[in-house]
Parts: sequence; C-alpha cells; structure tokens
Amino acid sequence: MSTPLLDVRDLQIELMTDAGVIRAVDGISFHVDEGETVTIIGESGCGKSTTAMGILRLLPPGLAVLSGHASFAGKDVITDPASIAAVRGRSVSLIPQDPMTALSPVLTIGSQLVEAVRTRSRELGRAPARRRAVELLDQVHIRTPEEQLGKYPHQLSGGMLQRVLIAIALAGQPRLLVADEPTSALDVTVQAGVLDLILELQDRTGIAVLMITHDLGVARVVSDRIHVMRAGRFAESGDVEDVVDRPKTDYTKALLAAIPQLGGWDGETAPPNRREAVS
Ligand SMILES: Nc1ncnc2c1ncn2[C@@H]1O[C@H](COP(=O)(O)OP(=O)(O)OP(=O)(O)O)[C@@H](O)[C@H]1O
Ligand SMILES: [Mg+2]
Repeated sequence: MSTPLLDVRDLQIELMTDAGVIRAVDGISFHVDEGETVTIIGESGCGKSTTAMGILRLLPPGLAVLSGHASFAGKDVITDPASIAAVRGRSVSLIPQDPMTALSPVLTIGSQLVEAVRTRSRELGRAPARRRAVELLDQVHIRTPEEQLGKYPHQLSGGMLQRVLIAIALAGQPRLLVADEPTSALDVTVQAGVLDLILELQDRTGIAVLMITHDLGVARVVSDRIHVMRAGRFAESGDVEDVVDRPKTDYTKALLAAIPQLGGWDGETAPPNRREAVS
C-alpha cells in the first residue's frame, strides 16, 4: 500500500497553560489518503482544533509540546516543523472556523485573494494573479467575481465569505484541506451550500479533506471515515455507515441522540426518531 497523505500515530499534544500542563491530545492515530475525507467529531473542548493546529504546526512553539508520529506526504512534521511550514498554504491548506474574523476588514476581497495567489506563485504578475483570483472565485461559485473583488468583507454575507476563504485555501492547489468547523458559523441552508461545494471540489480535483466538526449531520454527509473524539482520545473510529448506523460506544449513541429531529407541521407526523433507533 502507498504511504498515506497524512499519517498520524499515537499523537500527544501537551499545552502549557497558566493553570498547568493540559494533555489536550492523548495518543490518537489516524490517516488520510489522497482524495479521502476523514472527520474528527466531538464535543467542545475535546481537542479537535488542537489536533488540527498541532499537525499544521500552528500552535505556539514553547507552549505546545508534540510527541508521537505525524507525517504529511512522507515528511515528519513532529521532528521537523519546517517541513509542514514549507508546504502550508500550498500542498496543505486550512479553512478556518470563523469567516467573519479570518479576513482583514480594511482590505478588499480582491487584494486579499490576489495576495494569496502571489504568495503561492511569486513569479506571477499582478494581471495574471488577478485573473487567477477571478478564476478561484468562479470555482467556489461566487457570481460576478470581477465585481466582488472590489468589495470589503463587511459587504459580503457569511456564506460568501466562507466561499472566499475556500478560494484562498485553493490558491495553492492543495492536496489536503484541513477544515476546522468550516460551516459552524453559518445558517443551516448556507451550511448545506458550502458542504456541497467542498464535495464538488473533491470530485473535481481529488483533494483530500480532514474535517473537524461537532455536527454528526455534517460528518455523515461528507465523510469516508469518522473518528469520535472525547477528552483527547478517540472513543470510536470507523467507516461512516458503521459509526452512524451501528455505533459501538454509549458516547457515540448519545451524540447521535443529540441530533435534533424535524417534526411534521402538525406536530404529530414526526419521522422516526434516531433516539429510538439507537437505544
Ligand atoms: N490557549 C489555551 N489555553 C488553555 N487551554 C487551552 C488553550 N487552547 C486549548 N485549551 C484546552 O485544550 C483542550 C482542547 O481544546 P480545543 O480547542 O482543541 O477543543 P475543540 O475540540 O477544538 O473545541 P471546540 O469545539 O470548542 O472548538 C480544552 O480543554 C481547552 O480548554
Ligand atoms: Mg475547535
């Protein structure tokens, strides 16, 4: 078998905080192959973001200590943090959680996107970089991209801003997208559109995705495999069908039971409740 794109084994991350040392990630193992979507799901504070930021080496060096094994495209990111720094924004990109704060409010969408394009291909002149920016906005289905380039972040909706952030993430033609709760800040309908976009990009470009979410609905739609995280460890791992339809642990069952169900308009014709199905 070929080497996984991302290979993580017995990863531990300790955070030095004012309150002492916290072992936020406590020995997790998983891998992501080319073109695959692997999801880490769990409640707030279980260590999802620490895992993602740790692998990307975006945690403050003296304050986060990583041990175990993690490699991206065969390069060790634990013993050699520079190896991931060299490809961050290129072979591997992050879609951040909150589109409202991830962009600078004082620069236009265009200048931020063109900057992202030129950071990745320094030889590109302004005009070709702008053409590429238009192309990227088009890829994430933003209508009238030329017009949007001149706008400031506050002039765009949350869903459009998230699409812009995905466009920025795509600027380096990555092989892996790390998406930390990419839809949590969005309305449900907008959320569905952004998830559709990620799935479509994946079909078209074969990009792999490491999805971080607390939402089993999201996990069920996008994942090939799911790891349920609790207090820094994986409580359960498996194919999406196994984890969602045949959960093994009480914790996963409780997570599934917590998904809200839509009832009928008259309040009587509610569809079968998942809670009944798993208890
Ligand atoms: N800067 C920090 N200082 C102190 N503790 C921290 C810090 N960052 C994270 N932690 C702790 O590390 C643990 C994991 O946090 P992390 O942000 O990875 O959780 P998460 O699963 O991403 O949660 P959420 O769903 O809320 O984003 C938590 O116990 C948290 O309190
Ligand atoms: Mg988080």
